[in-house]
Amino acid sequence: MGKTVIVVGCQWGDEGKGKVVDLLADKADVVARFQGGANAGHTILAEGKKFILHLIPSGIIHDGKVCYIGNGVVLDPFALIEEIEALKMQSISVVGRLFISAATNLVMPYHKLIDCTDEKRRGGDGIGTTLRGIGPAYRDKVDRCGIRMSDLLEPERLRRRLEIHKKVKCDYFSGSKDDRADIEKIFDDLMTLAPVLTPMITDVSLALEKHRKEGRNILLEGAQGAMLDIDLGTYPYTTSSNTTVGGALTGLGIGPKAIDEVVGVVKAYTTRVGSGPFPTELVDDTGLQLREKGGEYGTTTGRPRRTGWLDLVALRHACRINEVAKLAITKLDVLDRLDSIKVAVAYDLKGTIMKEMPLDPDALWHLKPVYRDFVGWKSSTEGITDFDKLPLQAKEYLKFISHELNAALGLVSTGASRDETIQF
Ligand code: IMP
Repeated sequence: MGKTVIVVGCQWGDEGKGKVVDLLADKADVVARFQGGANAGHTILAEGKKFILHLIPSGIIHDGKVCYIGNGVVLDPFALIEEIEALKMQSISVVGRLFISAATNLVMPYHKLIDCTDEKRRGGDGIGTTLRGIGPAYRDKVDRCGIRMSDLLEPERLRRRLEIHKKVKCDYFSGSKDDRADIEKIFDDLMTLAPVLTPMITDVSLALEKHRKEGRNILLEGAQGAMLDIDLGTYPYTTSSNTTVGGALTGLGIGPKAIDEVVGVVKAYTTRVGSGPFPTELVDDTGLQLREKGGEYGTTTGRPRRTGWLDLVALRHACRINEVAKLAITKLDVLDRLDSIKVAVAYDLKGTIMKEMPLDPDALWHLKPVYRDFVGWKSSTEGITDFDKLPLQAKEYLKFISHELNAALGLVSTGASRDETIQF
């Protein structure tokens, strides 16, 4: 009997899902992405090589694994081609191993233009998006004027849909000399890519059902994190997709019973890129230390990440909405040099102590975290692979998190490469 495991981020993204998915992909036959787009950036260090993936599931770097991109993803076809070429340079072929849903919406060059325009128009109230056109592409999907993978098979329909789009969204395009708004050019460019992309089109829902019936192990790879979920995150400072387990059901066309295990990825501290409230943010030397030691710069945009202490209130919310059973705690070694480590166990909102997220995420701007202090272990955990060999204080820290989140420790990462991992 095969098993289907889903990996989701429990914070604001960048939890280290790439490494976790890479490790779990070893036991999987099939890996599928269900939401997000090229806003994601998964870094994997394996066999002395560094792989950075934005759209293609991390399973692709394992020989013989089959990868799927579901209908819940918004796919930038130009970025995908670049990624395919980069993999080719590293001697990895996607041919016969990468398949894309016919219903996947495409990110068009004009979506990136709109993303930039919108961020400028928002002025100081910007979201700090990755400018990869994610929000505008999902907006068009919901507005029913998106371009889908299957349109690449029908050039006349594709042309008509691009023209309809231009009419409906004309205020963004009128008078624009930007190439990214040039419908004729976009059509021609898409036709150039179509011979590479159309053989990958498939019915992902049917394919996954077949794999399950054959007893295959399936890994579902989440992007971003629970706090960036469009419905359940810190709205409006979120991405535009459901980054939580529910997004996998609609984003791949599977039912709830298709998922056997939920693994939540939690970085040992917190980071956030872009705007929005961040209750445990550190704007002092400790914050800088976490950024430098943790290499906290965006994989996709290179932006420095904001850093802070672990936030158990946000994590309780993330674990509940995803029903997380196992935790993958990453980057423990980044805390090695600290004298003391804090963990937010509750929020204080004008004298009211809350252990759960406030109903209105705007309240996050105004509350103060209630911290529990841990003594730092002040010794290196780098590369440790046996839980018992960890310093006592590090073990206490991990056990506390697991207890508070009511989820078992599944994996602890003590370095960037595959073998720097404690598995339970
Ligand atoms: P968008 O997804 O580009 O629209 O960006 C919306 C918000 O989500 C911004 O704050 C981004 O910084 C954040 N975001 C999007 N993708 C990622 C990711 O992969 N990691 C961390 N933050 C992300």
